[in-house]
Amino acid sequence: MSKRVVLGVSASVAAYKAADLASQLVKSGVEVFPVMTADAARFVQPATFRALTHHPCPIDVFEEPFPGEIAHIWLARHCDLFAIVPASMNVLARLANGLADDMLTAAALACTAPILLAPGMNTGMWDNPATQANLARLRDYGYYFIEPTTGRLACRTEGVGRMADVPTILAAIHEMLARQDSWRGVRVLVTAGPTREPLDPVRFLSNRSSGKMGYALAEAARARGAAVTLVSGPTALPRPGGLEFVPVETAAQMRDAVLSRAAEQDILIAAAAVADYAPVEVAEQKIKKEAPPAPNSGGAGQEEVGGLTLVLTETDDILAELGRRKRPGQTLIGFAAETEHLLDHARRKLESKNLDWVVANDVTQPGAGFDGDTNIVTLLGARGEEISLPLLTKREAAERILDAVTATPGEQSPGRATS
Ligand SMILES: Cc1cc2nc3c(=O)[nH]c(=O)nc-3n(C[C@H](O)[C@H](O)[C@H](O)COP(=O)(O)O)c2cc1C
Repeated sequence: MSKRVVLGVSASVAAYKAADLASQLVKSGVEVFPVMTADAARFVQPATFRALTHHPCPIDVFEEPFPGEIAHIWLARHCDLFAIVPASMNVLARLANGLADDMLTAAALACTAPILLAPGMNTGMWDNPATQANLARLRDYGYYFIEPTTGRLACRTEGVGRMADVPTILAAIHEMLARQDSWRGVRVLVTAGPTREPLDPVRFLSNRSSGKMGYALAEAARARGAAVTLVSGPTALPRPGGLEFVPVETAAQMRDAVLSRAAEQDILIAAAAVADYAPVEVAEQKIKKEAPPAPNSGGAGQEEVGGLTLVLTETDDILAELGRRKRPGQTLIGFAAETEHLLDHARRKLESKNLDWVVANDVTQPGAGFDGDTNIVTLLGARGEEISLPLLTKREAAERILDAVTATPGEQSPGRATS
């Protein structure tokens, strides 16, 4: 069966390019269902899209182009990919805020298939803090983007905001569609985020992990058709849909959640920053400044130095345990966030924990590491592979990591599992 793409067209000057995209998609065998905003129809007529795609091109959410169906829900359910080309500043704002007030936004907001946005707008609109905040939110929600380029704009200025060209968008759509079924039937467990190790009822020890890398990996695996379990420590990220989500707080909870599900997984990706140490004891009451040493203070130090000495114990090493339990055909991927001797430490981790891949990143590099939307990683494989990736968004890095795992020859390749 041919792939189905809903093509949403909004009111940027680049709307005319969407007609060429629709035509090329149809020629390549994709079934295209167009939808437009009312203002987009002031740039290009819906008749153009109807003629090119042989499907209706609704605008208003109350239109009934599909007999007996609620059109926005039908479109949302019957597509493999939803591409919004171009995506106006206004549409970005509406999607980021859940405003479903026309056919395009109502269908997009009801859709669980991947949504690809190709923004196009004047530089001032692009740089506007409201747009940048909306983009950040949409990225966190799992939307895919084709970034605008820098160049001459219709408003006779030079700058960022020009929609990517049609061949680039076409290639991205085909790449996403091709990936879609590549991990069908593969079971993937991803850990993400930090853990919190309580000190008392109000305090905990934790780390700077945002969870973004792990969430990007889980979403990328889901988009390839895998059955995904995401075991997540506390993060500020929205909970992704279309996967089993297991929230945990402590390293011990993460260990239990992961180990109880590990045997049935084909691929395990340990991206969480699990605490290596936890307080020996958790105080039942809030530790007070003036109080005698707390149970986990080791009885030392408080009066003498005016501080608090915590006694910590090592937590269980989940990754090492997964390595010990690894069964034939299972792929185990770990992360090594290092501040020095990156590749040496990562290679040692790969070997000592029986991993198939380790994703090494030097968290001291600008653009890499815990917070933020980008990362710079090197993949080391158990067969001696070494793949250095440039500065990429965490979403792009996730795709490249999954590509590397797919390309691994041997039983654990998802390509084989599904063939
Ligand atoms: C000539 C003209 C060109 C415009 N170009 C853009 C553009 O490139 N990008 C954009 O986001 N908005 C642009 N706008 C503004 C949008 O068309 C306007 O915000 C509209 O209400 C968006 O509607 P929609 O998001 O529902 O499609 C333009 C408006 C006009 C009149």
